[in-house]
Amino acid sequence: MNATLIYEGKAKKVFATENPGQVLVEFKDDATAFNGQKKGQIAGKGVINAKISTHLFRLLESHNIMTHFVDQPSERVLLVKRLRMVPLEVVVRNIVAGSLKQRTGLAEGTSLAFPVVEFYFKNDELGDPLLNDDHIRAMNLASSDLTSRLKHEARHINDILQNYLNDRGLLLVDFKLEFGMADGVLQLGDEISPDTCRLWDRSSGKKLDKDRFRQD
Ligand code: TMP
Repeated sequence: MNATLIYEGKAKKVFATENPGQVLVEFKDDATAFNGQKKGQIAGKGVINAKISTHLFRLLESHNIMTHFVDQPSERVLLVKRLRMVPLEVVVRNIVAGSLKQRTGLAEGTSLAFPVVEFYFKNDELGDPLLNDDHIRAMNLASSDLTSRLKHEARHINDILQNYLNDRGLLLVDFKLEFGMADGVLQLGDEISPDTCRLWDRSSGKKLDKDRFRQD
């Protein structure tokens, strides 16, 4: 792209636009896992993740969830609102997998009695550690009001995505969201794709997400 690069992350590049309130996000084919220790390329991943994110942001918007999504100008690029990001990853879990299995010893595939919401501190040097509400407040990362709004919004988004995917034969095991503020309003940012969700085929149990890369 010709635009000015503002930021390059592990899976995306962010470019400025003429509108200071909007940026372009390009989805790369690069894949990383374990805080960048494992690196690879998955041909076509960027295009698919941009397409799935666009589809799911539009779905959420149709349910009155505020998101940063504005438009999809090309196959691997989204036009989005520029957000002031909350430095937290918000994870929602419906079924045990990944780090919850490691932390609790519960068997992979165990259904949780209710959706479990977790917060992780976005900090590569620390390896994005798990935080509780008190840590978040003590570190001044978010007020307790904002923390409870994040939980509420994440559970609402889970209800919408779970219903939608379930009707299409997919189990939404868990997923990660990132939020930010624009014009004083909390909005969903980042992406929603198989890089940031665990999705299992309901009948075969086949993994249809980035765990295929994480686990070779
Ligand atoms: P976890 O089980 O490894 O904690 O992952 C929980 C969910 O969050 C899973 O759907 C993958 C997603 N995730 C990300 O999107 N980015 C990350 O850096 C990590 C660790 C997980």
